[in-house]
Amino acid sequence: MDGSARTQPTLAPIDGPQAWRGDRMAARGSEWRHDWTPAEIAEIRQAVADVEAQGLEIMAINRAAFPLPNAAPVLKAMRRTLLDGPGFYLLRGLPIQDWTIRQAAIAFWGIGTYLGRPCSQNGKGHVLGHVKNLGLDYNDPMARGYQTAARLPYHTDSSDIVGLFCWRPAKAGGLSSIVSSTTVFNEALKRRPDLMPALLAPFFRTRWGEVPAGKQPWAEVPVFMPHAGRIISHYVRSAIRKGQLLPGAPKLTDRQIEALDLVDAIAAEPGIHLDMDFRPGDLQFVCNHSTWHSRTAFEDFEAPDQRRHLLRLWLACADGPALPDWMTSSYEGATEDGRPNGIEVPGVPLNAPLEAQ
Ligand SMILES: [Fe+2]
Repeated sequence: MDGSARTQPTLAPIDGPQAWRGDRMAARGSEWRHDWTPAEIAEIRQAVADVEAQGLEIMAINRAAFPLPNAAPVLKAMRRTLLDGPGFYLLRGLPIQDWTIRQAAIAFWGIGTYLGRPCSQNGKGHVLGHVKNLGLDYNDPMARGYQTAARLPYHTDSSDIVGLFCWRPAKAGGLSSIVSSTTVFNEALKRRPDLMPALLAPFFRTRWGEVPAGKQPWAEVPVFMPHAGRIISHYVRSAIRKGQLLPGAPKLTDRQIEALDLVDAIAAEPGIHLDMDFRPGDLQFVCNHSTWHSRTAFEDFEAPDQRRHLLRLWLACADGPALPDWMTSSYEGATEDGRPNGIEVPGVPLNAPLEAQ
């Protein structure tokens, strides 16, 4: 925990577009939600059909292979909202009722090419992820939350942007909730300045057995990293908790636990976070550096092909916010343009499966 000995910057609340409250954002939907127009839907359908006609593999689809003359300006503006603005966006209204999952994956990947470059999301090299209950136990030290039906507390994923495409919603539950980590930082600073040193020092966390080249099975990253005028955040409490089971793990102190309880409580407060439902065809994009996301527990339909199923992309953005070394050398590796590169395990080729694995 050498980072705790680093010189702490003078702390002040951060103002700016990343510091939003859910109750106010709920009334400002035009800033973070777009309903596809008929012209945009038509060109997405056409682009999907053209990719299918060419027999292109998902990973071979680039922007040139997925032209969106009408939607491109919308996606460009959305990208700035994600990286420099509030950090989240919802695209609604794709009529996917008669689509195959391959067509959904093509559309999602194609839209994603306007935002960033996909990175690996796990030790299997999946660049197209599947968020689906595989019957895994959330308490299993090697299980990732996305493989379970459990409530997922507020957390970050490991990339500049995470995108979700709702293929099938749950029978009940599985609602999405997001919160500004900058607002959580500001509130924590206001309420308990004495706990801020703990939140600015690194927390020991597991990598769930998915270990990139040159890394250990664990990582150390602070929850809040003031950097270049912003608060960059990385937070996965379940990974911190499961990290305690690793040999040689430094035991969490009461102060650290109190600090994590504080940020969890702030994020869960009505008015602080923003809830949204997922409808079939919805695309939600979130910037991990400024936004935490969570979901409620859910109940599935019995039939396997009707169970809650989201497709997921982790995207690297060359012009994303400036990041501290914690994010691109201590925790993750970096892409050739210096962005977090997800979870790349040596010898595992990147692949884009069409089913949950
Ligand atoms: Fe997540």
